[in-house]
Amino acid sequence: MQNKSVIGFIGAGNMAYALIKGLINNGYGAENIKVSDLDESLLNSRNSELGIDTFTNNSDLISVCDVIVLAVKPQVMSSVCKGLQGAVKSSHLFISIAAGIRANDICRWLGGDLALVRTMPNTPALVQQGATGLFANDLVSEEHKQIVTSILSAIGDCFWVGEEKLIDAITAISGSGPAYFFLMMQSMTQAGMALGLDEKTASALSVKTALGASVMAANSDDDPKQLRANVTSPNGTTQAAVESFQDQNFEGIVANATRAAYDRAHELSIQLGDVD
Ligand SMILES: NC(=O)c1ccc[n+]([C@@H]2O[C@H](COP(=O)([O-])OP(=O)(O)OC[C@H]3O[C@@H](n4cnc5c(N)ncnc54)[C@H](OP(=O)(O)O)[C@@H]3O)[C@@H](O)[C@H]2O)c1
Repeated sequence: MQNKSVIGFIGAGNMAYALIKGLINNGYGAENIKVSDLDESLLNSRNSELGIDTFTNNSDLISVCDVIVLAVKPQVMSSVCKGLQGAVKSSHLFISIAAGIRANDICRWLGGDLALVRTMPNTPALVQQGATGLFANDLVSEEHKQIVTSILSAIGDCFWVGEEKLIDAITAISGSGPAYFFLMMQSMTQAGMALGLDEKTASALSVKTALGASVMAANSDDDPKQLRANVTSPNGTTQAAVESFQDQNFEGIVANATRAAYDRAHELSIQLGDVD
């Protein structure tokens, strides 16, 4: 990565760890990464494993950083941001990875109009296979966007959207999406056991098949619809299963579930932002 901005993480938990580890693995210098947290033992372990400077005071951290990643839980975001007022500079670039919190609410809590990118990562970020949605407010420049893309690319692929409400759609597809695939694997494991396989074998077959299908879909020029057609011989076993899924409105079930996630994301962003 060419950019050598000093990046400060507020919150040293799971997501910050995944991002910092990804950045260092991609060649970003540990001397340009800092982190703050309330938990000193966690900071000590991040320092000894990753070689990064640590802070117990968030304002001290941001005073030595150009880019600030807000990596705390949504419930504490308002108090963390308000605690930074006074240390915030207009040159700072903020990145929020907190689920559900709108850009305007974060800027209000920080005390001004600031360059801020709101992101929605997902849990495969923890194994550097994430899909992250990103929305930039009006003060974010093209150069800022390149910096943010280079940081979030450390945990997977980045997808920019031009309207903030699309972050709720991203939440419904990739944010909550890993759980849908886990549910599918769980259901296939149970189905395999009902057909006589032992649990260990049924589970391993389900997980490996999900991984194989995903790698094929990610690497193929064909879209998933075509890939499915390619493995569905007329009157074969796959066709029998797919017809059974479709008789029970599989596409409609998925559409309803993702709409429920979208509506809940919208509701939560109103609740979480409704704090002075
Ligand atoms: N994990 C995911 O897969 C995922 C996916 C998408 C989005 N996100 C978002 O990523 C953010 C971080 O999630 P996470 O899983 O990394 O959470 P986490 O492991 O709980 O990390 C958050 C860290 O922030 C610390 N913290 C709390 N209050 C603080 C304060 N005032 N100043 C500094 N640090 C403070 C916490 O300490 P304590 O534990 O002592 O409170 C904890 O170490 C969340 O907003 C979440 O919505 C996570």
